[in-house]
Amino acid sequence: MTRLLTGLQPSGSLHIGNYFGALKPFADMYTQYESYLMVVDYHALTTVRNPRELRANINEAVKSYMAAGIDPTKAIIFQQSQVQEHTELAWIFECLVTVPFLELAHAYKDKVAKGLEANAGLFNYPMLMAADILLYDTDIVPVGQDQKQHVEYAREAAMKFNNAFTETFKVPKELVVEAVATVPGTDGKKMSKSYNNTIPLFGTKDEIAKAVMSIVTDSAGARPENVYAIHKLLKSEAELADLYEANKGSYRALKEALIEDLEAHIAPMRVKCDSITDDDVRRVLKEGSDKARELAQAKMSIVREKIGVSL
Ligand code: ADP
Ligand code: TRP
Repeated sequence: MTRLLTGLQPSGSLHIGNYFGALKPFADMYTQYESYLMVVDYHALTTVRNPRELRANINEAVKSYMAAGIDPTKAIIFQQSQVQEHTELAWIFECLVTVPFLELAHAYKDKVAKGLEANAGLFNYPMLMAADILLYDTDIVPVGQDQKQHVEYAREAAMKFNNAFTETFKVPKELVVEAVATVPGTDGKKMSKSYNNTIPLFGTKDEIAKAVMSIVTDSAGARPENVYAIHKLLKSEAELADLYEANKGSYRALKEALIEDLEAHIAPMRVKCDSITDDDVRRVLKEGSDKARELAQAKMSIVREKIGVSL
């Protein structure tokens, strides 16, 4: 069966852009594959410095995916830091690629341009991601457009290793989820936790309402495009055509309708999320990490043999 693997960074509270751009597409397709879903906590360490925050984020990430419909008996949900082979293999790849090659990474350049500290972990980020993917003989990696280059880095790492030490790693392909255009934030720019323009995924109805009411509606036509773009993720264009026609120019009524539609979609997930305990999360991650570790250990014993460190 085709193996699919993806990673999510536990780096902050999720918003509906993450939901429609990442969680939902994954929830819609993961049962067609042998799926691995990994919480990449060591990647998050490149930016998060508060242990309480990191713990809470890991917990929330798992609950969010389960609330979005991922059944832990149908996918392996695990924690990167609990499988030490990831950091070990990352080191080996780092010894095979050059600094100028890593300097070409857009994600690294963008993060530093935004003012993040250029720590060595951030710089080596693509090699840890390559290890995440290659350890499991992954066939496809579903990612957003912004992560495409990182999958290319993984391919490159696989090929460099295979050339140096004979065929060992499967060369993976990305699956770019393009069906959902970028979800706009309340200011019309891409919704992102770094821009303070988000609608929280598991916010209370009041928090969601407040965010929706703040959506900028200075569109020239009768249709408030920033409201419509989010509405379109919840209802068909035919359904919306009537609603928007009946409320032409009445931005407040349209926003109220959007709040209700968001609430109808999110409320059941909120209930599901609240029903998952911290112990459930620990159990899911432990079971998943134990399974992942078995595969990772088997792969690493081959790798150690090939590079010449096992005597
Ligand atoms: P943020 O921009 O808030 O920091 P991340 O970069 O952590 O979000 O993104 C996590 C996942 O959610 C990625 O797969 C990304 O493609 C997706 N995502 C984030 N924001 C959006 C958005 N506005 N529209 C669609 N997908 C998004
Ligand atoms: N870099 C990815 C992101 O920010 C997260 C990630 C880490 C990942 N390791 C991965 C995604 C392996 C897919 C496969 O979204």
